[in-house]
This record gives sequence, structure tokens and C-alpha cells, in this order.
Amino acid sequence: MATTRDVAVLVGSLRKESFNRKMARALCAMAPETLACEIVEIGNLPLYDQDDDANPPPASAAFKARIQRAAAVLFVTPEYNRSVPGVLKNAIDIASRPYGKSAWDGKPCAVVSVSPGAIGGFGANQHLRQSLVFLNMPVLQQPEAYVGGAGDMFDADGRVTKEATRAFLQKFVNAFAAWVERNLMPLDEAALEALHAAPPVGDGRPAAGRPH
Ligand code: FNR
Repeated sequence: MATTRDVAVLVGSLRKESFNRKMARALCAMAPETLACEIVEIGNLPLYDQDDDANPPPASAAFKARIQRAAAVLFVTPEYNRSVPGVLKNAIDIASRPYGKSAWDGKPCAVVSVSPGAIGGFGANQHLRQSLVFLNMPVLQQPEAYVGGAGDMFDADGRVTKEATRAFLQKFVNAFAAWVERNLMPLDEAALEALHAAPPVGDGRPAAGRPH
């Protein structure tokens, strides 16, 4: 039996009938058995405040610990005003701090953007990749997933209606599974245990001589 990898799936929309949430669920259902996907909720997170780095709110600390546990991350996001929705950017910022203690560091990831529009959230997808480079997350290059025409993509049960779209999504999630295996971080169990025992603390100042 294949080893399963814990994949945190982040959805950049809080809307109940979100196309992106439907897409995230569809991808989780299609994922090969090496991936154990779980949507990690981000709608309850407070706004990131650097003053709280030494003592983050419980919801933020729990979210960061959840990301720390994950082997990989899948981002499924709409485009808001040609960029990443604030709610997703907030979650990313929360788990990235204090500086030098980012939970994202080194985790393989992939980005899917979904929009009713024709260009499939290209702007959000690319803006997100800009942050992922800084966060040192190896991001799946191909296939890119700019999914347009979401308005009639799902049936009443959330199933992707078009066979061609399903085939593309299967190819995407298979490529992601292979990407995860190629880019897995070596797990330091002792460090992880210590991290889970206490929320990360720090003064948030960058290390001398390093960009921040
Ligand atoms: C949008 N929408 C949108 N769509 C797009 O393709 N490019 C864009 O820049 C924007 N900008 C934008 C800003 C804001 C504030 C909202 C609320 C919406 C439309 C968006 O794609 C649409 O509402 C999707 O349905 C949002 O995704 P979910 O919620 O269905 O996952």
C-alpha cells in the first residue's frame, strides 16, 4: 500500500456556493491514493497583526500548526480584482511568521484558480506564485490550472459535468501527486512534536542581513 501524504487544501473563497470549494472537493475526490487531502478552513482566522507574533491568537496558532503538519499544500482560489483574495493572503501571512519560522517553508504545492470568467483567474494564480517563491515552496509548474467558465462547470451534486474538464483535472492532480513525491521535505519528527506542543514564539524581527 502506498504511503499517504497529508495535503492541506486552502480555498480562497468563503462563499457557501463557491465554485472554488466545489473544485477543491472535486480534486480531493480525484486524488490518487498517495494524497490524503483535507480542506483547512481559513474563514475564522483573525487579521494578521505583527504585534501578535510572540503570542498569536489561538485560531492563528492552530492554523499554523496544521500547516506545519502537512506534507504539501494545494491552493484553490478565485481571482479578486486580478489578485489573490484577502482572506487567502491573510492565511498565508499568518502561517509565515515570525520571520524565520514559516510553516510553509519547503512544502511542495500547486495552484488552481477558478473563475466564471474566460481567463480562469490567471492574475490571482500568478500573484500567488509570487508569494510562494518567497516562501520557498516548490510550486507545480505544469500543467498550469487556470479554470474558466465555472458558471456551468458543476452539476447539483458538485460533479464536474464536462468529460474534457474532468480529464484535465485528473491529469493535474496526478502531476501534483508526482510533484509531492519528488519534493517532499525530510520530516524531523522531534522538531514537529516540539512545534505542536507549543505555538511558535518569536519577536518577529528578521535575522540580521536577511531580506524580509
Ligand atoms: C470578483 N470576480 C472576479 N473574477 C475574475 O475572473 N477576475 C477578477 O478580477 C474578479 N474580481 C472580483 C472581485 C471581487 C471582490 C469579487 C467578489 C468577485 C468574480 C469571481 O470570479 C466570482 O465571484 C467567483 O464566483 C468567485 O469564486 P467563488 O466564490 O465562486 O469560489
